[in-house]
Amino acid sequence: MRIPLIAGNWKMNLGIAEGVVLSQNICNNFDKSWLDRVDVLVCPPAIGLRPCLTVFEFERLKVQVGAQNVHWQPQGAYTGELSCDMLASAGCTAVIVGHSERRNLFGETNEQVNLKLRAVLAQGMTPIACVGESLAVREGHDPVEYVCAQVDAALAGIDEAEAARCVIAYEPVWAIGTGRTATPEQAQQMCAAIRALVADRFGSDVAEQVRVLYGGSVNVGNIDALIVQPDIDGALVGGASLEASSFLALIKACA
Ligand code: G3P
Repeated sequence: MRIPLIAGNWKMNLGIAEGVVLSQNICNNFDKSWLDRVDVLVCPPAIGLRPCLTVFEFERLKVQVGAQNVHWQPQGAYTGELSCDMLASAGCTAVIVGHSERRNLFGETNEQVNLKLRAVLAQGMTPIACVGESLAVREGHDPVEYVCAQVDAALAGIDEAEAARCVIAYEPVWAIGTGRTATPEQAQQMCAAIRALVADRFGSDVAEQVRVLYGGSVNVGNIDALIVQPDIDGALVGGASLEASSFLALIKACA
């Protein structure tokens, strides 16, 4: 059976001091037995990765840290970028790739998302590949076809063993930061379609292993109905991951 994953994406929020305080507050009220039943990841801004991980290590709490972005090249003249090797050296075990904010605000393409995903896999880390349709696509087109094409592009050129290590996060753009969440049925339908696509490309064994998350205005009020869906294996959480109490409540709900 797949172990659920609760991942907090802090986006461009919280400096080093604030991130350390939040990490400490997460530790202070964490029931360690939850980690028998749920994996937990926090994705601070890059400068907070090492300081936050140090807090979790000091408290001997197996909360992992992940990055929000990466460059696929190993090194070189890429001003402002970080490589997979650099992130791994900071203790990262996962990297978000293709978040809709990166796609929409920074012009990240499906091809670049694929390059990033493959670089993350090659480094031995877990890619969390984000996909999701805009409101215009949901209302005027076939959202399943659109999202599955994003998944297909993200997973291009990898083998079965690599595919099994991927996490896919379905985040409808219209639900991100809006307070308007997808219904559990809408989220389940898309996550099931994503798993079916993975089965078609990589086989049913791989599809059974791949974790598919939902993201988009996840909060304490809607997590219960989302996590019981058969193809939803956890959540990628923005706003509700910035407060220890709400993040802990989400973890507890999935444990
Ligand atoms: O990556 C998480 C995200 O985009 C969802 O953000 O604030 O709607 O939970 P939020």
